Amino acid sequence: IKRITTHTLQEMKNRGEKISMLTSYDYSMAKIVDAAGIDIILVGDSASNVMAGHETTLPITLDQMIYHASSVVRAVKRAFIVVDIPFGSYQGNSSEALRSAIRIMKESGAHAVKVEGGAEIKESVLRILSAGVPVMGHLGLTPQSIYKFGTYTVRAREEEEAEKLLADARMLEACGCFALVLEKIPAALAAKVAQPVQIPVIGIGAGGAVDGQVLVAHDMFGITQEFRPRFLRQYADLQQTMTDAVKAYIHDVKSEDFPNEQESY
Ligand code: KIV
Ligand code: NA
Repeated sequence: IKRITTHTLQEMKNRGEKISMLTSYDYSMAKIVDAAGIDIILVGDSASNVMAGHETTLPITLDQMIYHASSVVRAVKRAFIVVDIPFGSYQGNSSEALRSAIRIMKESGAHAVKVEGGAEIKESVLRILSAGVPVMGHLGLTPQSIYKFGTYTVRAREEEEAEKLLADARMLEACGCFALVLEKIPAALAAKVAQPVQIPVIGIGAGGAVDGQVLVAHDMFGITQEFRPRFLRQYADLQQTMTDAVKAYIHDVKSEDFPNEQESY
């Protein structure tokens, strides 16, 4: 199997082939997602919500991200693997940013890192890139700044924030980022970013005029069902499937149907 690289992804944008991206946080899930043919696997800090049950992405630690990432790396044969640098491990201190990125690359074996923000984190982005570590940017609704926004509503509806987002996208491209994620912004603005920017722009709640799409795997599988934003298309109802399986198992244990003779030694 031929591995996806930053070059493969750039070629996909150049020829107009959309890029598919999903999260994974563990070996078993990553194995399924990779074998099905996904282009990019994101070890997202959404693991903080989905895996650990926190309300935000802020509490997850660098060590925990590395644990998730190394589990994913052991499962993946083809996809390009990007890991979120967690809150507090890169902002405002480019030396720490570099150290965090190097720890992720060395200890997990992943292929790239993702960071949230624009001009505010430029020094950190440049420093990480200087070590030869591919960086994916993330603009729009950046969940690590949720307490600044105060709401999970659509970002950059106002002219000022839209202008800053455009400038940040151009800046991240000029710095040398290999791709960008745009989260929960108007489709027209996302299109305005994806056109002049040469690097792949991956959207989540950013409409169809971008170079690819990303979703949280647990959301699209219907495992997590509390979270149902408009941008989420649910491809399965695994919550129902799993609930039915647990109920059938309980029934079989209680009724002494399980285990039967063939299932015993
Ligand atoms: O952590 C995450 O899952 C993400 C995606 C939603 C882009 O950053
Ligand atoms: Na994230």
